[in-house]
Amino acid sequence: MKKVYIETMGCQMNKSDTERMFGMLSNFGYEETNEPKDADLLMVNTCSIRQLSEDKAYSLIGLWGKWKKAKPDLKIGFCGCVAQQKAQQIFKRAHYIDFVLGTHKIYSLPSIIEKINKGEKVCECEETNATEDKEAVKFNINRAKSVNAWIPITEGCNNFCTYCIVPYTRGRERSRLPETIMKEVKDALNSGYKEITLLGQNVDSYGKDFKDRDYRLADLLKEVNSIEGKFRIRFVTSYPTDITDDLIKTAVELDKVCEYFHIPMQSGSSEVLKKMNRRYDRETYFKIAEKIRKMVPDVTITSDFIAGFPGETEEQFVETLTAMDELCLDYSNTAAYSPREKTVAAKWVDKFIDEDTKFERLARLNEQNRKCCLASNKKFIGKTMEVLVENFENHKGKNIITGRTRNNKIVHIPYDKDLTGEFINVKITGCKTWYLNGEIITE
Ligand code: SAH
Ligand code: SF4
Ligand code: F3S
Repeated sequence: MKKVYIETMGCQMNKSDTERMFGMLSNFGYEETNEPKDADLLMVNTCSIRQLSEDKAYSLIGLWGKWKKAKPDLKIGFCGCVAQQKAQQIFKRAHYIDFVLGTHKIYSLPSIIEKINKGEKVCECEETNATEDKEAVKFNINRAKSVNAWIPITEGCNNFCTYCIVPYTRGRERSRLPETIMKEVKDALNSGYKEITLLGQNVDSYGKDFKDRDYRLADLLKEVNSIEGKFRIRFVTSYPTDITDDLIKTAVELDKVCEYFHIPMQSGSSEVLKKMNRRYDRETYFKIAEKIRKMVPDVTITSDFIAGFPGETEEQFVETLTAMDELCLDYSNTAAYSPREKTVAAKWVDKFIDEDTKFERLARLNEQNRKCCLASNKKFIGKTMEVLVENFENHKGKNIITGRTRNNKIVHIPYDKDLTGEFINVKITGCKTWYLNGEIITE
């Protein structure tokens, strides 16, 4: 059997593509290896959300190119979001690459493998904007070892936030058919996964493009929830103004749907939000978050923020800090603005914030995030929470199991037995910035 190694650099959607590519490759006699040096086929699944992620991909293939000099039979593939964007240009940069595979064409991987094995160079980066449901059902998905299965429900994005590359790398928004999704959910549950995360850039748009049926995210959640057995359901990412009351109610009424919303705010300043082409202002976001907190007990709300968007003033940046604080956000992903080719904001060069200021703001954003996380964690001390165990390890001589609560808090519990995949009740005894400490409650 030949061996394949895939380095996955991007988001959950990118990880999900990797699992599908492993599935297709296993049909062609390739087995996965965790050791790139042992591989006959090396693939990088790239991300272009920021320049840094793109640069990482180039330096990795640079290293692999050197290995190929010593091992001429080695095949190298360049896939994912950077591939979709750069297509043929990758061959100019790295002539030793055997194939470039964009996000729209992942199901052409089997035919690519045949061609490269005949010595051809292949570039499959045409934009199709079609759902790949028909292809998807033909192959297994070799999911990563985990308790959680990522299941894409929409592909692409129509929002065109002015900083973001995703609509260019993933194309127009399209919903996958409920039949395909349900099949993947059932397969994952039958293989022992205990948590289903429905994935999309804007999950609330799910179903908007169906012409033959009225079927939206809340309907899908109800259908998944009706499957028998003990498991959890999550959905990410939510766009603030697209969250419907119906969806919030599902988190309360459906027993398997978890009390967790990831709703990126991006900036706390209404003026900046307008320039970002986000369709809400500070007040609207506050109202939505308030509504969710009121309706869903013990809910956690997490967000993403960008520091140093073009033209952002110190006052506007401070509005982001106060928003994080006043909203008591439970956790936020943070990033310094990175100009991306083709996007609208990348053309506002005269408004770019200098690097020092940008990174100084990012550091303050991170500090505020730490404070918010700690405050959020403290709220749960003394409570009893259900934890789905994800891991067992020996840390500095002590056995620890780690897992997540329904509202997505990480919990560390001293325990001598590996309970990975089990649901346990845990008393929260303390916390650190990034996790809770707990004790298992024995019946
Ligand atoms: N669909 C999600 C976000 C997907 S991209 C949403 O609408 O919120 C993930 C995160 O990357 C974004 O939320 C944003 O905070 C960050 N991001 C996107 N483009 C960026 C850029 N050019 N520079 C810095 N961060 C960026
Ligand atoms: Fe990017 Fe905006 Fe689409 Fe999210 S909603 S993927 S930030 S364009
Ligand atoms: Fe994901 Fe990065 Fe592409 S965040 S959609 S892998 S640009």
